[in-house]
Amino acid sequence: MKNIVILISGRGSNMQAVVKAQIPNARIAAVLSNNETAAGLAWAAQRNIATDSLSHKNFDSRLAFDEAMMRKIDAYQPDLVVLAGFMRILTPEFCRHYEGRLINIHPSLLPAFTGLHTHRRAIDAGCRIAGCTVHFVTPELDCGPIIAQGAVPVSDHDTADTLAARVLEAEHLILPQAVADFVGGRLKISGSRVIRNTGAQLDARLLA
Ligand code: GRF
Repeated sequence: MKNIVILISGRGSNMQAVVKAQIPNARIAAVLSNNETAAGLAWAAQRNIATDSLSHKNFDSRLAFDEAMMRKIDAYQPDLVVLAGFMRILTPEFCRHYEGRLINIHPSLLPAFTGLHTHRRAIDAGCRIAGCTVHFVTPELDCGPIIAQGAVPVSDHDTADTLAARVLEAEHLILPQAVADFVGGRLKISGSRVIRNTGAQLDARLLA
């Protein structure tokens, strides 16, 4: 069994997708948040998953918060830490501590549109295709080796909200698949690239 710790800041729909996927040999050891009112915490607690929160507002520095968060995370001896809508910029110390076992879901087709407001920016740029990316986390924001991507069309009538909803459906497919591939030992980092050995596909829509 591999221990997974999932970090969220809000609704936690990506975390829910990972939990619901019931990934073989994966145990969701804890769901942690920087926001004690994150809706996803209540959802996880109802399913008897350990939950905890730590407000970044109670810390003087980014590093002090990250160190305290690392202590909480490490208590669960994670094989993998998943950032699933965890809206914090992480220190290099945090990234290095979990190097090779820290992944993030980002709502754009990286390397396009790192950072915030990705859907608005994709529409404003006239993109015809948008999407999401799961990547290993490195100290440079949204720049680590790419594990998986999901693409969706952008329609002329899209608003940032309608595009976000379409991209979110793709997020819910690729994040559980990436976690399953990690747990199944199917991901290998080679320089800046991730090589994925073919293996179990969680959802046939990923092949479409
Ligand atoms: C997702 O779109 C994720 O990619 C972004 O924030 C959103 C979080 O949604 N970073 P949820 O909390 O997983 O529902």
